[in-house]
This record gives sequence, structure tokens and C-alpha cells, in this order.
Amino acid sequence: MATMESLIGLVNKIQRACTVLGDHGGQGMSLWEALPSVAVVGGQSSGKSSVLESIVGRDFLPRGSGIVTRRPLVLQLHKTQSGAEYAEFLHAPKRRFTDFVVNLTLIDLPGLTKVAVEGQSDSIVEDIENMVRSYVEKPNCIILAITPANQDIATSDAIKLAREVDPSGERTFGVLTKLDLMDKGTNATEVLEGRAYRLQHPWVGIVNRSQADINKNVDMIVARRKEREYFETSPDYGHLASKMGSEYLAKLLSQHLELVIRQRIPSIISMINKTIDELNAELDRIGRPVAADGGAQLYMILELCRAFDRVFKEHLDGGRPGGDR
Ligand code: GDP
Ligand code: NA
Ligand code: MG
Repeated sequence: MATMESLIGLVNKIQRACTVLGDHGGQGMSLWEALPSVAVVGGQSSGKSSVLESIVGRDFLPRGSGIVTRRPLVLQLHKTQSGAEYAEFLHAPKRRFTDFVVNLTLIDLPGLTKVAVEGQSDSIVEDIENMVRSYVEKPNCIILAITPANQDIATSDAIKLAREVDPSGERTFGVLTKLDLMDKGTNATEVLEGRAYRLQHPWVGIVNRSQADINKNVDMIVARRKEREYFETSPDYGHLASKMGSEYLAKLLSQHLELVIRQRIPSIISMINKTIDELNAELDRIGRPVAADGGAQLYMILELCRAFDRVFKEHLDGGRPGGDR
């Protein structure tokens, strides 16, 4: 699907441009917020980092029992013009990870907790929740609400928070991890079939690598194969096998992203045009640039906006029925 790839590549370019524009006035942030990112939300050790990795199909995050993400890790995956793939954390732009297959902004958020542990301030529980909320309340944030299957779903902090910030559920994907760790004699079909807790999008069950697998360095390819086998041979979930697992979740997400991006393109174009108008007005006020002063920089940004406007319009044409799909 070349269209999806180019769309997501475009998103990365725009997000970079927005970071630049953000330094120069009001429009930068709103442009940024118009574009989708994907964040994982859930309790500590619910499998958040594992899910993000299996969506991408590569190992790159700190993960495992006792390993806690203390601050959001914002990851951008890129595909360069030459086709070379790499990923980078926004907080560590020099550290590049190669060999990725999708281009996305992914956010690994700290785990929600219920109680402060020894040495932590009493406000920690609320502080973490507020910080996580500040990411997932943004309308452009696609939420992967992670709940471990060996825990009562009614007490899922992920679902509670997702419901609060996205009541209609249009940008929430319910992900049930640790299906392999449920008590014998119990299963999660009630949840996975959408009967226990209805969400707009279908629930996806996942079997990530166990801690023992991590200790043995079981790689992603093997882990995915084992996950597929788990569902295909499961007496409980066999009938759902084609709609379970990390690969299926990645597919659902891609489809959703494409839809979201296509829906947003017209409003992004109008925001870009507004920025162009504002920049033109500003340039008229200060005079057209003659040297490398502030005006020259504004002029450069204006050119950038025009370029994006052109690219977006091409994408819009490509998206019409009978277009290049
Ligand atoms: P996070 O703290 O939410 O980011 O969770 P991690 O991805 O770091 O996983 C926490 C622990 O749970 C690790 O030891 C994982 O191996 C384990 N784990 C995560 N998902 C699963 C799963 O689906 N099945 C099993 N058996 N273990 C899992
Ligand atoms: Na962990
Ligand atoms: Mg983690």
C-alpha cells in the first residue's frame, strides 16, 4: 500500500515542520495537533512497551519486569527518500534505530499506579495520571488502552482514562494482553467478543513475550509466530484467530491512521493557508527580506508552507475514487 506509506511519511515531514513553525507563532501547535500519534496507556507492567514493539515488529524499548518508563518516550519512525529506514527518540535525536517498516509517532507513556511506593511522594499517583492524561486527551492521539487479561477489566485504569478523554471511543483501541497468563478454566471471550465492555473498535487480544522469553532473548519473529500459533490452536479463541494478535492490531491501526489522515487533510490545508496569509501579512509589515534577518526566516517558512500545501493537494487528488490507489 504505497498510499499509506507516503501518507505516513508526509505526516512525519509535517510534524517536523510544525516543530519549526511552533517556534514562530500560533499556527505551529495547531498543525501539530491535527496529525495523529499513537500512545499506549495502562498500569505498570501491563505490557505497554511490549505492545508498542510488537506493532512495529522490532525491539527498541526498555521492557521487562522492574523496568519502568518514568517519562514519556516519543518515538518517530521514518522512511528516508532513499528508502533507508530509521527511528529516533525526540529526546535523543542522535540515537538512530534502523530497520523499521512503518512511519509513525509512537508514545510509550509511564504506567498508571494505584499507590505510591516507599520513597515516592503521595502525589505521585495523581501526577502520573495527569501527565498521561495530558497526552491522551489531545484529539489527535490514538489510544491503545492496555489491560492485562489476568486482571479484572472492570478495574482497568487504561479503560477508565480512555473513556474519560474519549467518551465516544472513536480513537480508543482496547488491547488485552497476557491472555496466556489467565487462570486455568477462565477465558476472555466475553471481553474479546465485545460483550463485557463495548468499545467502538473491536478488542484485540495479544500474547507478548513472557519475562522468561525476554531473558532467553526470544526474537520478534519467533514471538509473533508463537503468538499466531497460540490463537490458531486455542480452544477458546480459535474462532477469533484472524482478528487477534500484534500483526492484526498493527493492521487495524494502519487502516485507522489512513482514515484519520485523509479526513484531516482539508483542515490541515486550510490551516496551512491561514499560516501563509499570516506570514504574508507579517512580511508586508516588516518588508520583504533582503538579508539573513528575521524576515528571511519567515520567508523560508512561507515557502515551506506553500510546498506542503502543494503536496497535500496532490495527496487529496490521489485519494479520490479512481485515483492512484
Ligand atoms: P510495561 O511496564 O507496561 O511497559 O510492560 P512490559 O512490556 O515491560 O512488560 C512487563 C512484563 O510483562 C514483562 O516481563 C513482559 O515479558 C511481561 N508480559 C507482557 N505482556 C505479556 C504477555 O502477553 N504474556 C506474558 N506471558 N507476559 C507478558
Ligand atoms: Na515494565
Ligand atoms: Mg514499559
